[in-house]
Amino acid sequence: MADNRAIDALYEENRKFAPPPALVKSAKTNSDEIYTKGGDFQAFWEERARPLPWKTPWSRVLDWSGAPFAKWFTGATLNVTESCLDRHAAQTPTKVAYYFEGEEGDSRTITYSDLLEEVNRFANGLAELGVQKGDRVAIYMGMIPEFPVALLACARLGAIHSIVFGGFSPEALADRINDAKAKVVITCDQSRRKGQTVDLKALADTALERCDSVEHVVVVARTGAEVNRVPKRDVDYEQLVSRQKPIRAAAECSSEDPLLILYTSGTTGKPKGIVHTSGGYLVGATTTHQEVFDLKPEDVYWCTADIGWITGHSYVVYGPLANGATSVIYEGVADYPDKDRFWAIIEKYRVTQFYTAPTSIRTFMKWGKAYPEEHDLSSLRILGTVGEPINPEAWMWYRDVIGQGRCPIVDTWWQTETGHMMISPLPAVTETKPGSAPKPLPGISADIVDDDGNSVPFGGGGCLALDQPWLGMARTISNDPNRFVETYWARFSSPGEGRWRYFAGDGAKRDANGYFWLLRRVDDVMNVSGHRISTLEVESALVDHPTVAEAAVIGRANPITGQATAAFVTLKAGVKGNETLIAEVREQAAGKIARPASIVFTEDPPKTRSGKIMRRLLRDISEQRKLGDVTTLTNADVVQEITKRAQLQAKLEE
Ligand code: WT7
Repeated sequence: MADNRAIDALYEENRKFAPPPALVKSAKTNSDEIYTKGGDFQAFWEERARPLPWKTPWSRVLDWSGAPFAKWFTGATLNVTESCLDRHAAQTPTKVAYYFEGEEGDSRTITYSDLLEEVNRFANGLAELGVQKGDRVAIYMGMIPEFPVALLACARLGAIHSIVFGGFSPEALADRINDAKAKVVITCDQSRRKGQTVDLKALADTALERCDSVEHVVVVARTGAEVNRVPKRDVDYEQLVSRQKPIRAAAECSSEDPLLILYTSGTTGKPKGIVHTSGGYLVGATTTHQEVFDLKPEDVYWCTADIGWITGHSYVVYGPLANGATSVIYEGVADYPDKDRFWAIIEKYRVTQFYTAPTSIRTFMKWGKAYPEEHDLSSLRILGTVGEPINPEAWMWYRDVIGQGRCPIVDTWWQTETGHMMISPLPAVTETKPGSAPKPLPGISADIVDDDGNSVPFGGGGCLALDQPWLGMARTISNDPNRFVETYWARFSSPGEGRWRYFAGDGAKRDANGYFWLLRRVDDVMNVSGHRISTLEVESALVDHPTVAEAAVIGRANPITGQATAAFVTLKAGVKGNETLIAEVREQAAGKIARPASIVFTEDPPKTRSGKIMRRLLRDISEQRKLGDVTTLTNADVVQEITKRAQLQAKLEE
């Protein structure tokens, strides 16, 4: 098959939903003029940067002369915490910044004035431990109020935080600490998860056995459990903070000083330390949060992401705080003590915007609508999704059952590397279609290209490329600028002609109206009998069947067709899988897009801690290879059962 073929766009979705008239009336951004303004992207972003409290103004909006290493707002200085805290503590000191809901039902309310004081105390404490501007601090915590305090305290000093998701192993933590040469680690005694506790401090101790750069470990007492203390190195958070003053002058940082490093996995090799800087990232996170969620002063916003992921960095901490928003932070899982916990939280705090991941929505679907129906969800105005493509059926369920047909859905495409949302509807402007992240936000430009880099006309598919610099773009990969250029820029750029295009690694198609449909990472695109087929589109077809809750599809090597479509299907609660049902589900998929060669029923597809289905593992199982590392799965126990069933299925096919 020729390599420059576009991806065949087969699945068609024709339902459309216009923004509700009342929202159009009340929203600040309610006309598509904003897209015209975004055409002059530098002027557009400059206008949005102005309201933030800079210390020194910029001399240039964008310096792209060192492409692909961007510089935004050159010459300007600021401290991001002044945008997030001081101005709100001065103007609305008693406004709630965070409602914290503990997994066991305990709660805390933190106002902007409380948050500023706590951040200042902790910044003073970190300074006492020797942390200075430019130093790296690793953070390994559960979702408790001290988590955002820790990030902000680093930022107050101009120190660079490197957060490691609290579900990662000691090995992962050690690699990241060593790559960033972190001087201090901030952790807690234990975190809570599904009624159990996780010994975070003990895990951190294991990691620290092979980390030479670390001078101090600050330990927040979440549960009060006895933990090992290494004399001189380990410091109790409460003791450290209680002896500090609640005032700390914010360090003056250049717009391009690094704010954070966040590691993300690549297809091969060690994780990439994505570096984000201060000014552009902050403006990007703040304005997208404001516009995509139509944020109003009285709103109560809840993003369910852990702060350990980029979504939490940008849309639990920096964006919402800089907007002076009131947010909910929830410590635990969605099914503790019962499967209605999220809906109970929405009811309790009268949440207006709810932002979560498709994998969660599919899980809620599987649990059934009785759980949300027990609660008053009438406060909700806007629903968001992020993290992976959402199947049209899950989108419709989200709209009908959670949004009760009333709330626009914003399907927001972006990445750790992009820093903030890139492709998304504006809720009072964009007509939405189930499953589509419709178009680039104002000021953002994206294209779909074939393997030779030629733009693919509407109606076709290919690789998603971003062809214009944006505010929150990753500035480099920590310690590896060459890898930054190679991974993201080499494929579709022509440096000789001054043409730079960022390769996102995602396949996408555009329909006849120019709407974008993200088709997942390009390595999740199958090649069946010379047709490139997105695993996602087959999954969508499978999930359309009334008995199917979730489907994972991979391309399994096949001597005749190149790849064969192998489906792993999870049925809705109470449905029993048998040969007749396999045949029925397969025919339905055949009618919509392509007939899977095999269907294996599973209790639950193997998933990573961030909820992504681990397709590599399913590929290994299907091709009967020895299985690699499964320790990063949330549900390693399902692997054996799936393997057994897949082998049985293979025998049947022979
Ligand atoms: C990858 C980035 C950005 C925060 C969470 C994930 C996929 C993300 C969408 C969406 C389709 C999406 C892409 C992207 N993705 N959002 N709305 N529709 N796909 O961050 O771990 O850096 O992953 O997630 O494949 O490349 P990440």
